[in-house]
Amino acid sequence: MRFDHYRNWKILIMLSCFMHVGTSLDTISSSKFLKDPETLRSNDGLFKLGFFTPTNSTFSYLGIWYDMAKPQVVWVANRDYPLKNSSSGRLEIFKDGNLVVINEQNQILWSTNVSNIAVSNSTTAQLQNSGNLVLQENTSGSMLWQSFQQPCNTLMQQMKLTMNKTNGEKTELSSWRSSQDPSIGDFFAGLNRLNAPEMFVWRGEQPYWRSGPWNGQVFLGTPGMNTVYLHGFVLGGQEAGEDSYYITYTYPNKSDVLIYVLNPKGIVHEVYWNYETSSWLESWSSQNSTCDIYGMCGAFGSCDPSSSPICSCLRGFEPMKEEEWNKQNWTSGCVRKEPLQCERVTNGSEAGKSDGFLKMQDTKLPDFTERKPFIDDDCRTKCLENCSCIAYAYDSYIQCMWWTSNLIDMQKFSSGGSDLYIRVSYLELDEKKKNTTVIVTTTVIVGTILIVACAYILWKRTTTIQKKTNQEIQKRDQINSLSKAKLEEVSQYKFDKLAIATNNFHLANKLGEGGFGPVYKGTLEDGQEIAVKRLSRASGQGLEEFMNEVIVISKLQHLNLVRLLGCCTDADEKILIYEYMPNRSLDAYMFDPVGQVLDWEKRFKILEGIARGLLYLHRDSRLRIIHRDLKLSNILLDEELNPKISDFGTARIFGRSEDAANTNRVVGT
Ligand SMILES: *[C@@H]1O[C@H](CO)[C@@H](O)[C@H](O)[C@H]1NC(C)=O
Ligand SMILES: *[C@@H]1O[C@H](CO)[C@@H](O)[C@H](O)[C@H]1NC(C)=O
Ligand SMILES: *[C@@H]1O[C@H](CO)[C@@H](O)[C@H](O)[C@H]1NC(C)=O
Ligand SMILES: *[C@@H]1O[C@H](CO)[C@@H](O)[C@H](O)[C@H]1NC(C)=O
Ligand SMILES: *[C@@H]1O[C@H](CO)[C@@H](O)[C@H](O)[C@H]1NC(C)=O
Ligand SMILES: *[C@@H]1O[C@H](CO)[C@@H](O)[C@H](O)[C@H]1NC(C)=O
Ligand SMILES: *[C@@H]1O[C@H](CO)[C@@H](O)[C@H](O)[C@H]1NC(C)=O
Ligand SMILES: *[C@@H]1O[C@H](CO)[C@@H](O)[C@H](O)[C@H]1NC(C)=O
Ligand SMILES: *[C@@H]1O[C@H](CO)[C@@H](O)[C@H](O)[C@H]1NC(C)=O
Ligand SMILES: *[C@@H]1O[C@H](CO)[C@@H](O)[C@H](O)[C@H]1NC(C)=O
Ligand SMILES: *[C@@H]1O[C@H](CO)[C@@H](O)[C@H](O)[C@H]1NC(C)=O
Repeated sequence: MRFDHYRNWKILIMLSCFMHVGTSLDTISSSKFLKDPETLRSNDGLFKLGFFTPTNSTFSYLGIWYDMAKPQVVWVANRDYPLKNSSSGRLEIFKDGNLVVINEQNQILWSTNVSNIAVSNSTTAQLQNSGNLVLQENTSGSMLWQSFQQPCNTLMQQMKLTMNKTNGEKTELSSWRSSQDPSIGDFFAGLNRLNAPEMFVWRGEQPYWRSGPWNGQVFLGTPGMNTVYLHGFVLGGQEAGEDSYYITYTYPNKSDVLIYVLNPKGIVHEVYWNYETSSWLESWSSQNSTCDIYGMCGAFGSCDPSSSPICSCLRGFEPMKEEEWNKQNWTSGCVRKEPLQCERVTNGSEAGKSDGFLKMQDTKLPDFTERKPFIDDDCRTKCLENCSCIAYAYDSYIQCMWWTSNLIDMQKFSSGGSDLYIRVSYLELDEKKKNTTVIVTTTVIVGTILIVACAYILWKRTTTIQKKTNQEIQKRDQINSLSKAKLEEVSQYKFDKLAIATNNFHLANKLGEGGFGPVYKGTLEDGQEIAVKRLSRASGQGLEEFMNEVIVISKLQHLNLVRLLGCCTDADEKILIYEYMPNRSLDAYMFDPVGQVLDWEKRFKILEGIARGLLYLHRDSRLRIIHRDLKLSNILLDEELNPKISDFGTARIFGRSEDAANTNRVVGT
């Protein structure tokens, strides 16, 4: 079966449908074998298993693919032993009970290779809805083998990449050799680093890319990957009793198709199927610039894709080999300029003042993290006391991280990333102070100029914005005069700015479905992250809720209420802009079977926060407000898991002295 001719493809689909009339579609047993162009089809029709020939290749392979208008192969059995003649290959249950691919000469090209299957002809193989091919004992139903434990180049939902805690043994993805040759290529991907697990790509044995440690929610070194985490990545096996770590992911919506593919050049692509355009689109990739290549700038060097040259030594360090470095050969890295206190002591010179730390913001933390059980300030003091510690960082989930050897594979991000503290001699710190006077004078001068400029721009903008919004508001006679006044109190955002921030309201940026329309994640030009709720234009409903929300929430401010940043009423759009809540809503924690478990302390904090928010709404605010749709999905969590009540679309304002009111509208859930 060839993928390059769409017409053939259609005919083949028709053929295979025809051939399978009256037989079980997704299962193969000892009484039945499969040969080209027959296929097995998963029960829900998403996957097919059969023989295929890659474009421009003369060989054929047994594989599993997404059965879309553009098929995407996710698994290949006989990668290194192709069939020379596709029409002669067979997939069958062999007499030893294993599933095998056999060629014309009855040679076994591939086998599931399970030893000691008890009753030889009682095994069956099934292509499940997850895309997993499972060999099981027919009578007992116990699983003997599955394709998910022998991954190829694709990570799918529910598949696990594992790492044995005792011997570091891994299940890995392995790239194809080229786009037309599925045999095992140069690149591998899997979990690495037992003390703070993270994802790695290797070229042969050499590290080629790393994700940065997992902190319970994100990989610390991949700030661009945010949207994915909403789909529920999990690092499992962290309990003491379990002998392997594993990483896996699942989505709430079964029909969403999003996979990770390690391509022949060693780049991991996150691609999803776009039902509207019938195409595979990329939403993230591990290689955005050369800075993403492991150890690009050598030891103690930091890579910044936006500067030129991209590599620079950390503050307090200088190139080890000046000449090479100037020729942009960064491999030897940098060395420390001024010795640390410990070094001075061991060399017998004067101890001098103690060392200090330089802070590096928005950094990809270096490789070879050591985890220490110290909390907050202890991390710093303990590091300073120990001569081996040359840098530290702190994350509330991983806690204290130390580095004791070369700092390698650092990158400066434009936003995101972590704060890294690098130990330097007091001489470096003093130098910083010397510079401050210069900096202060410059700042004052530049500052004055900036303030004048800003004031002018602000004055210009307010006048134009007011002109524009006034025009638009007049257009909409549905909105009563009260609402008009309220709209003007809220900051207005331009529609095209929001479109850019959300990548044209891209599906990949969708956070969920709110009361009256989808909610997207966006990043404004200045890097601020926002949540954007867009009233569906088609529905025609929700205008009342929109205005209600603007009126209610613009009057309120409380730590436990979500903050409205502004709205947009450009071009018939009705859009609300909120602060972005990285930790999703509470229901994601309470109902998600693979989600993290909140401990009691956190739960109590969340409950207390909700109660405070309600108390404010009911009693302490200027208005008296009944929310009327308080549920888990309307409780959002910020980065410190502080709860914030959201969605005031159906809230009702009461007078201060009003205790009861009648309503004839049914609202909420
Ligand atoms: C297949 O070969 C043709 C001609 O050599 C080439 O133009 C095309 O890009 C190839 N396709 C792939 C997917 O390699
Ligand atoms: C492939 O196998 C089929 C059936 O066994 C046979 O008719 C055909 O000639 C073979 N093709 C080649 C190129 O060997
Ligand atoms: C099956 O196992 C044997 C020995 O354990 C090994 O030599 C062979 O390569 C394996 N075959 C496959 C297809 O994994
Ligand atoms: C296995 O298959 C053979 C022939 O197909 C049949 O005679 C035998 O009874 C089967 N054994 C079992 C345990 O099903
Ligand atoms: C497997 O079991 C099912 C029912 O449990 C039976 O219908 C089928 O014939 C069995 N297949 C084999 C190959 O034993
Ligand atoms: C992990 O490695 C240990 C030691 O080699 C072994 O006993 C254990 O079975 C392995 N666990 C898994 C899940 O492979
Ligand atoms: C990729 O790099 C470009 C600049 O090189 C940057 O603007 C963009 O934000 C980066 N994207 C991600 C996902 O990191
Ligand atoms: C799941 O995704 C499909 C396709 O994108 C969409 O049609 C469907 O409405 C979604 N279901 C839910 C419950 O969001
Ligand atoms: C860079 O320097 C290293 C030694 O420091 C040397 O082995 C390597 O060949 C150099 N690379 C290039 C491209 O000059
Ligand atoms: C410490 O002593 C060694 C050898 O005696 C010398 O190579 C090194 O440069 C000295 N370091 C400092 C900081 O003086
Ligand atoms: C200093 O840190 C190193 C590396 O983590 C550790 O092995 C050593 O025990 C520590 N020394 C002291 C005195 O704590």
